[in-house]
Amino acid sequence: MQSYETSPDFGVLYDAIPAYAAREDAAFYLEEAARGGRSVSVLEIGCGTGRVSLPLARAGHRLTGVDGSPAMLARFREKLAEEPEEVRQRVALVESDAREFSVPGGFDLAIAPFRVLQHLTTTRDHLACFATVRFHLAPGGRFAFDVFNPHYTLLVRDRAAEAEDTPETALPDGRTLRRTARVTRVRWVEQVSDVELIYYVRGGEAEERLVQAFPMRWFTPPELEHLLARTGFAVEAMLGGFDRQPLTDDAPEIVVVARAV
Ligand SMILES: C[S@@+](CC[C@H](N)C(=O)[O-])C[C@H]1O[C@@H](n2cnc3c(N)ncnc32)[C@H](O)[C@@H]1O
Repeated sequence: MQSYETSPDFGVLYDAIPAYAAREDAAFYLEEAARGGRSVSVLEIGCGTGRVSLPLARAGHRLTGVDGSPAMLARFREKLAEEPEEVRQRVALVESDAREFSVPGGFDLAIAPFRVLQHLTTTRDHLACFATVRFHLAPGGRFAFDVFNPHYTLLVRDRAAEAEDTPETALPDGRTLRRTARVTRVRWVEQVSDVELIYYVRGGEAEERLVQAFPMRWFTPPELEHLLARTGFAVEAMLGGFDRQPLTDDAPEIVVVARAV
């Protein structure tokens, strides 16, 4: 999570990535919250800048967002300040680690959108996070999250060279941003890729090169089943995308909905 402190205004850079804004996951998490048939209480693990939390709060749900990054939370607070009072009242933000946090519990739904759990690299970390989430749920509460579906042909490809993933894009303050990505190493035994996202931020003649470097753990579906079973969950659904497509070899995501048992 320290990688999200790459610059003090990292949340602004994150929000400027068009591919993030275009993700179709928010609609999925809104549907999961709506399954309660009323406004529900939602715990978001790794809420970041509020990309998914804000639509949930606007839809009437109460939202507690936990995130370990001060920079991401700072951006969330800026955005929240522009929301109507009733939306602001429904949101509580807590700076804490996903493996060990304590907030008033009894949540109907916990979510961890956009591969948050892939930032946790060891089984010990996964068990700690899942058990902490479970502890905060109401009886029968649900836990919905997504991770990418590992495509091994992609993982073995040489991706050591920087490849542009975001062409020059305007930032709200007039600067511009371009981004490249590369994978510096794959640690097969640990199921981890070491990733660098490289932000080139230009203001006038000056250009800054900011490197967000982080390990990205991949999961297999059976591994997730085991982790969930060990921490008091039953799998309700394991899907291949936010459109609820089946989980096949080619599916882009592993989207999980589990219930506290
Ligand atoms: C890819 S961003 C996703 C943010 C948000 N959920 C979204 O969908 O836009 C991952 C977020 O997880 C947070 N994060 C990563 N590891 C964490 C940890 N161990 N504890 C708390 N937050 C963590 C980061 O700070 C970051 O805000």
